[in-house]
Amino acid sequence: VTVHLIGAGPGDPELLTVRAARLIASADVVVHDALADPAVLDLAPPSAERIDVGKRRGRPVPQGLINTLLVHLGSQGKDVARVKGGDPFVFGRGGEEAQALAAAGVPFDVVPGISSAVAAPAAAGVPVTHRGLSAAFTVVTGHRRHGDETATDWEALARVGGTIVVLMGVAHRAEIAERLQAGGLAGETPVMAVTWGTRPDQQVARTTLAALGATPVASPATIVIGAVAALDLLGPTVSVTDANSSGSSSSGSSGS
Ligand SMILES: C[S@@+](CC[C@H](N)C(=O)[O-])C[C@H]1O[C@@H](n2cnc3c(N)ncnc32)[C@H](O)[C@@H]1O
Repeated sequence: VTVHLIGAGPGDPELLTVRAARLIASADVVVHDALADPAVLDLAPPSAERIDVGKRRGRPVPQGLINTLLVHLGSQGKDVARVKGGDPFVFGRGGEEAQALAAAGVPFDVVPGISSAVAAPAAAGVPVTHRGLSAAFTVVTGHRRHGDETATDWEALARVGGTIVVLMGVAHRAEIAERLQAGGLAGETPVMAVTWGTRPDQQVARTTLAALGATPVASPATIVIGAVAALDLLGPTVSVTDANSSGSSSSGSSGS
């Protein structure tokens, strides 16, 4: 294999998989996004070339250019670590990179990562499913592309039930909240938004669907809508890191 499409998890470098860490540590080239944590990139050998394909001057590097770069590097037989946030196949455009590599006959593989869709809520004490509260979760993008035929039917989503997890939804949160209410979700439906989840600068906002549009939320955020969003399982002062370092002594675990 020459190109590895690697998920780096939601932000905390400790949430990298063992395989991701091993492959980055032996890469000839690391191709990464702007959000990549320096501690993750530092796993690469000093001799490895690092290429930042994140946003430049506020504009994303065109996906076509990234695909061409990966094909070019892979064709040279280089060991390429393509490091992406969360999971590479969850809104990460990793699928497009895989297709480009396959079309060019460049060998590649995929290293799944922990998606922010579940990890960011967890870091804020919110489980995306919970017995008696939510038996399903839907992960959806709040980002709209002009003329996109796969645009979300928010009114229909409101009737699906379970938890709604919105990625890339900060800019359009007012409209999303309106449409979910138009679809039948109550204005009092709990909402939790976590910005920079699992990172030291994590911020959490708790609100309701009716008040979401007027609630300040910074990007990048994961927005959780539904009964589970009212839960705060880690308590207001306990972070994920604290919970880990206190071992298995945390209370409230039923073991199931
Ligand atoms: C292009 S998507 C990529 C998602 C990624 N592939 C994943 O599985 O987490 C970027 C969006 O993911 C969410 N996101 C990524 N990292 C996050 C974090 N640390 N905390 C909260 N949300 C995050 C935000 O909604 C952000 O706009």
